[in-house]
Amino acid sequence: MGLFKSWKLVADVTEFEDTDRKQYFLENGKEVGLFKIDGEFLAVHNECTHSRASMIGGRVENGEIECPLHGARFDLRTGAVRAPPALTPLTTWPVKVEGGKIYIKA
Ligand code: FES
Repeated sequence: MGLFKSWKLVADVTEFEDTDRKQYFLENGKEVGLFKIDGEFLAVHNECTHSRASMIGGRVENGEIECPLHGARFDLRTGAVRAPPALTPLTTWPVKVEGGKIYIKA
């Protein structure tokens, strides 16, 4: 928790050789969905703002992720809602890659 965000090591890029997504937990218990889209890593809260479905199993297309439960769509980069029934954006976190390690600022 706390007001101060810091870079947290969550993964190694080699973990994404066979998949485009993985799920991680931050120290504060928040669940992160980490996606690799066109070579770029993007991190979103792995919990739909509509009814808390896990986003990690959602279909990804054109930089958007579709909730597997009721079909809301969010921009993976900004978290903005692109289609209902969700009304609230997804939380996103900045990601950086250094020396083959993936960090999230949270
Ligand atoms: S839980 Fe995601 S759209 Fe309903």
